[in-house]
Amino acid sequence: MKPRTRPEDLRSHRWFGRDDLRSWGHRSRARQAGFTREDMSGKPVIAILNTWSDANPCHTHFRLRAEDIKRGVWQAGGFPMEIPLLTLGETFMKPSTMLYRNLLAMDAEEALRSYPADGVVLLGGCDKTVPALLMGATSANLPAILVPAGPMLRGNWRGETLGSGTDVWKYWAERRAGTLDECSWREMEDGIARSFGTCMTMGTASTMTSAVDALGMTLPGASSIPAADSAHPRMASAAGRRIVEMVWEDLRPRDIMTTAAFENAVTTAMAIGGSTNAIIHLIAMAGRAGAALDLVRFDALSRRTPFIANIRPSGAFLMEDFYYAGGLLAALARLRDLLDTSCVNVTGRTMADAIEGATVFNDEVIASREQPLGPEGGVAVLRGNLAPDGAVIKHTAAERRLLQHAGPAVVFRNYNDLAARIDDPALPVTADSVLVLQDAGPLGAPGMPEWGMLPLPKKLLAQGVRDMVRISDARMSGTAYGACVLHVAPESFVGGPLAFVQDGDIIELDVPARRLTLRVSDDELARRRASWKPRQVAYPRGYGHLYARHVTQANRGCDFDFLEGTAPIADPEIH
Ligand code: FES
Repeated sequence: MKPRTRPEDLRSHRWFGRDDLRSWGHRSRARQAGFTREDMSGKPVIAILNTWSDANPCHTHFRLRAEDIKRGVWQAGGFPMEIPLLTLGETFMKPSTMLYRNLLAMDAEEALRSYPADGVVLLGGCDKTVPALLMGATSANLPAILVPAGPMLRGNWRGETLGSGTDVWKYWAERRAGTLDECSWREMEDGIARSFGTCMTMGTASTMTSAVDALGMTLPGASSIPAADSAHPRMASAAGRRIVEMVWEDLRPRDIMTTAAFENAVTTAMAIGGSTNAIIHLIAMAGRAGAALDLVRFDALSRRTPFIANIRPSGAFLMEDFYYAGGLLAALARLRDLLDTSCVNVTGRTMADAIEGATVFNDEVIASREQPLGPEGGVAVLRGNLAPDGAVIKHTAAERRLLQHAGPAVVFRNYNDLAARIDDPALPVTADSVLVLQDAGPLGAPGMPEWGMLPLPKKLLAQGVRDMVRISDARMSGTAYGACVLHVAPESFVGGPLAFVQDGDIIELDVPARRLTLRVSDDELARRRASWKPRQVAYPRGYGHLYARHVTQANRGCDFDFLEGTAPIADPEIH
């Protein structure tokens, strides 16, 4: 147990507590903002890193939630300081928020380092915001709590429940097949996103907030609370109260984010049928925390974890149903024997304490261990001569007949090529073909966009085909479904074998054996490699230039190489 921090040991004391010119200046500027000496003297400064923006509709409520957090901070004897950061609005930001995840992580880390923060509450939820904020806070290693945005309410159309993303892909396929009229399509546009909050399917947002909850970095169970539920602002103010105590206790992210805690997070992501994006993000986060996590461990944990959360896209329900069924804590209670329940969370207590008494109220939504929805987790890690450093597939969201499949490749050089030719009636494609997309990885796209759920050719949709094997170095939206092999590493842009696939090559997918094989001889592959001409990176300057020089491949989490690790960086000098 660490000794309690004294007021004069607070990091902010260097800014505000000394009898020198600079501290006088800092205090006088706090007076400028309307705060008295009594408001802040000797109190922990709590940064509230807020990713609110008009450009991020999932975070519409964050200005209110920041006030809820401040209320808690004041109540507990802290001094709140809200700091706006870059927002990563998944729907509006192009080419991909993934291009900017590391920029937000740097934004968070440097804000915490350069301002007088003693602890931090992170306000995030929409996809990349959660890993980015955690990566930054982990590197800064100040006491931290995430307040997750919470899932939005269920979508509704003519009495039918709609799920973010998942039902978009589903009904878009019907629209392309000519079976859904324009009026219905427009009504869905009005009814699918009914409140603030994150996608209410088990997409990347709900996967990451649930995983981070299991990791121990939210108040226990916070990730399941719908954004529009009054429990959400109550959770936010409780986080404000708790972070002040965490500062006095000196409880820091790296005390919580251990290898065992990451394994709990992975087990959770697998049991809830989580997004494949979680693999990239959790590996990157572990790299910042100094914890051991790689694709091999991911696959091993997935194989031993039953799939129990019946949430779209792999299941039938939505996050609101999950909350009413008992939420994450009830699901974790059902996984107790697979978790290290001695791991400590932001409360300073253990996961065992958090799940004590947690109850499942609806076995249809959270399945029992005796009758799980599937015997193993949702994600499989594949290897083979087409993906020497790995690839992934969310097999619970694919048609089962495709999990062992061999077929001829139909290759698209990039997304524009795909868009131009996929609906060409003359495209030589059948339901047995394997669609291959190149140049969609971390560097090739760039930013590894969610292009991995390649659209099916219209002529096959009209024949009733609804799933095919698709392979790319891209990611896939966590709300999407289909037999999509993703994150192929190394990517085609850097000369991974995916770059050398040609039309008609036979590709074999064998998920039970975890194999992805290009049935082309080594000699032929070497011949194709010798005649391959790499493309130049598109950025002569700017952030993209930095990104292109330093981003790692998907199997390493796509962090920047210079941000990985735990080497300490000194606090700024104050002169
Ligand atoms: Fe924000 Fe899905 S678009 S969470």
